[in-house]
Amino acid sequence: MAKKKKVDDEIKELEEFEELEIQDNPAETTVKKKKKEKTVATLEDLPGVGPATAEKLREAGYDSIEAIAVASPMELKEVAGISEGAALKIIQAAREAANIGTFMRADEYYERRKTVGKITTGSKSLDKLLGGGIETQAITEFFGEFGSGKSQTAHTLAVTAQLPPEEGGLNGSVVWIDTENTFRPERIRQIAENRGLDPDEVLKHIYVARAYNSNHQMLLIEKAEEIIKEKMESEKPVKLIIIDSLMAHFRAEYVGRGSLAERQQKLAKHLADIHRVANLYDVAVFVTNQVQAKPDAFFGDPTRPIGGHILAHSATVRIYLRKGKAGKRVARLIDAPHLPEGEAIFRITEKGIED
Ligand SMILES: Nc1ncnc2c1ncn2[C@@H]1O[C@H](COP(=O)(O)OP(=O)(O)O)[C@@H](O)[C@H]1O
Ligand SMILES: [Mg+2]
Repeated sequence: MAKKKKVDDEIKELEEFEELEIQDNPAETTVKKKKKEKTVATLEDLPGVGPATAEKLREAGYDSIEAIAVASPMELKEVAGISEGAALKIIQAAREAANIGTFMRADEYYERRKTVGKITTGSKSLDKLLGGGIETQAITEFFGEFGSGKSQTAHTLAVTAQLPPEEGGLNGSVVWIDTENTFRPERIRQIAENRGLDPDEVLKHIYVARAYNSNHQMLLIEKAEEIIKEKMESEKPVKLIIIDSLMAHFRAEYVGRGSLAERQQKLAKHLADIHRVANLYDVAVFVTNQVQAKPDAFFGDPTRPIGGHILAHSATVRIYLRKGKAGKRVARLIDAPHLPEGEAIFRITEKGIED
């Protein structure tokens, strides 16, 4: 009994402490209370963050939940002019919302893994290499030199994602972010027809946007999220996001060593956004990444693909594509967490890609 009372007192003390912090910023008190139960989507949804604080944070570059989640209390204290305790609370809430730095029981994690959906690539051999196809709640990266079949794989997936599950699809719609103007609706039609689908219907469920620079590309992920939310209750929810190519703008805009850190920082934010959307909405993400062929140095050097370490650590599954003999393509699995390494051979045909 006495023990319980002590605990109650401690809780009360903590609550009073919270009240004190709210007093620091009286204008924001009601905002905090109202939003306490809501899901955290924007900075203003974080405890104690009102419009004024949010603006200061955004101005200083802390413009997403993920950016806050990995910040230190001292940083936030300085840029937002809040107490260190308040900063800590904001960071903790952001971490929970972004699911960064929190634990999950392995059995729960296993249950979650079981909900992962798979989309066939059109090639049995490649599907086998991927453990059944490309997965939702993950980023799959295909990298390789020009003409190795990255965009052709993307076109095929944009069709197969729409198939029913018994045929290897997820009955899904597709969002396509095109950075190099390589999306071809005619090719989609051809692949759909050759797979026995109505080409008009297939095109109706692909949402395409051209990204004009890296900032625009990042913004398009937010737009993609809007489409995903809109279509969530429909008979064809979005199940696949394609970014072809992920790195082209980043590579073109940030040249030279000096700007590398800045590029990596932006890329990290972009990838965090993509991962969040993939997990939250159970969507598969397929990204391409062009690299120069340099076979000897290549496999020993994981920093070789453009994007460097950040991309290497963030992509869940990475496939290296190269041209083989007689027009064939060879796919090689690189450091997948749950799959054995190996190779698959496929062809590019009127059906997209197949064995
Ligand atoms: N309709 C088609 N039928 C058969 N092969 C095709 C067709 N369209 C493109 N290809 C093949 O795909 C190759 C281009 O692959 P692509 O995926 O665009 O490469 P990248 O890796 O640069 O994105 C071409 O060289 C061609 O061999
Ligand atoms: Mg391409």
